[in-house]
Amino acid sequence: MPEAPSGRRPYMVGNWKMHKTIVEARAYVEELLSSLGAAGGHVDVGVCPPYTALAAAVDGFDGTGVRVFAQNMSAARDGAETGEVSAPMLLELGVAGVVLGHSERRRDQGETDRALGEKVLAALDAGLEPILCVGETEQERDGGEMQRRLRHQVQEGLDQVPPERLGEVTIAYEPVWAIGTDRSATPEQAQEAIAFVRALVGDRSEEAAERVRVLYGGSVKPDNAADIFSQPDVDGALVGGASLEAADFAELVAAAAG
Ligand code: PGA
Repeated sequence: MPEAPSGRRPYMVGNWKMHKTIVEARAYVEELLSSLGAAGGHVDVGVCPPYTALAAAVDGFDGTGVRVFAQNMSAARDGAETGEVSAPMLLELGVAGVVLGHSERRRDQGETDRALGEKVLAALDAGLEPILCVGETEQERDGGEMQRRLRHQVQEGLDQVPPERLGEVTIAYEPVWAIGTDRSATPEQAQEAIAFVRALVGDRSEEAAERVRVLYGGSVKPDNAADIFSQPDVDGALVGGASLEAADFAELVAAAAG
């Protein structure tokens, strides 16, 4: 994926979900760094380990340019929130950013668009890069509700971000029906939804819409990545299952480099 005329750099982020111990994370870091090769110079690369492996990943990727993301955080700086972790805590670890509103958390932890709007702002204010996940369920798509759902998720998620900071957010369009199902969206479906997401950002700021990177997520694999990345509005991918093996993820980064 050559750099877009707008200057948006391709972006590949691996979401490990609840996988990998500290020992496994260390081995992954070594393998990824030795497999990335020249592609790593053309693509921004990030990984999202579970909390317990964040420090090992930050340490292993130190000075390499590979960014380490948490998979969630609280909107509060501190307080009586048992089991939660705040932006300043992540920042202290050397974490670069945080994934917010993954559909698994929306479904299992009841994360709402309004609460996510607060988290996006809290991340930016702390100096963390937010990756806001949005996407419709199969039922919503079949019922003609995709655009309404995406509009709500994007508008509420970015509601509190001032227009001049919108370009600092990364958005991942992940149709729920494509996550972990081996049923990726077609390149055309990904393009259509991502162009729509970009236009929603454009309703707030044309300049931010040109700048904001919008990733596709949902069953991205080495055999479908190039076609998806060839779409003009697709700036890269948030990859789950196919990012768990460092060699596979490096192959996807190479596909994004074009
Ligand atoms: P998948 O997951 O690549 O395994 O479909 C994507 C995601 O959940 O971010």
